[in-house]
Amino acid sequence: MGEVVGVGALSHAIAFLPPGEWDAFREAARGRMQKRYGFLPELRPEVETEDDTDNARRYERIAEGRRELGRKILAADPSVLVIVGDDQNELFLDVHPPIAVYTGESFSLGGDAAREITCDSELAGSFVTGGVEQAIEVAPVATLAGGHLPHAHAGVLEELVPTWTGDVVLVFVDAIHACAPTPARCLQIGRLLQECISRQEGRRAVILGSGGLSHFPASFPWKGYKGQARFGDIAESFDRKVVSLLEGGDHEGLQQLTGDQFLEHGSGEDRAWLVAAGASHGREWDVTYEPFAKAMMGMGVGAAF
Ligand SMILES: [Fe+2]
Repeated sequence: MGEVVGVGALSHAIAFLPPGEWDAFREAARGRMQKRYGFLPELRPEVETEDDTDNARRYERIAEGRRELGRKILAADPSVLVIVGDDQNELFLDVHPPIAVYTGESFSLGGDAAREITCDSELAGSFVTGGVEQAIEVAPVATLAGGHLPHAHAGVLEELVPTWTGDVVLVFVDAIHACAPTPARCLQIGRLLQECISRQEGRRAVILGSGGLSHFPASFPWKGYKGQARFGDIAESFDRKVVSLLEGGDHEGLQQLTGDQFLEHGSGEDRAWLVAAGASHGREWDVTYEPFAKAMMGMGVGAAF
């Protein structure tokens, strides 16, 4: 019997940068918006009023939460990390699978000192076949075009567990296209992962969701968006609702969330958290959350071990 020894999730991208680098990141995002739409989007007024000293203190909570998650992962001594994240036209350019898994034997993590990562392809394969039995069709991805990982997955390997030498399984759950699974479906995907792991003799898996929480970045406004949000907004009360459901292990509550709510609140990537939650048997999460106008994001890091 295999087992899920822990689950976790974390914000990525700008969340990996210290506050001193946020202004440049934000201005680059505004520049992309200007190029796309012909005007420079206004900043939220809080960008001017947020206190840098307080931001540094609050960001340290996120950074420490991430270090703590890294320590928990190593202490749990897993044999495999299952990394769940979305693809934003990085790997899948013409076809966007709602759910997919990389079934290859290994991949190379780019950069100057490319790192070869081995994969638990048996577990990945069982996720595909196990899914068919439950009418959860998971697309098997045999090769990673150009060896290029989406930012969601690369961020975990580069920033959270840079010394990881064990196996990895890459799971892709769409968060930005019309085919993105519902929150309830994401919980089912997590349960499916847990069942597949339990059937794999000797597997000790940690499941990590990468993405979220609310943000309205340079790719905003998205197709189909009908809400009132603007570039750089944060849906803090919705973030806190999701965090509270996770901390209470409230799968009933999580299951009632809808894809429309995710879209409205800039929370599409919360799907990665729900997959991890689905694999954690209603365990109560410990989540650190901080919203930052200057980083244009509700940042979170959480775990249930
Ligand atoms: Fe992302």
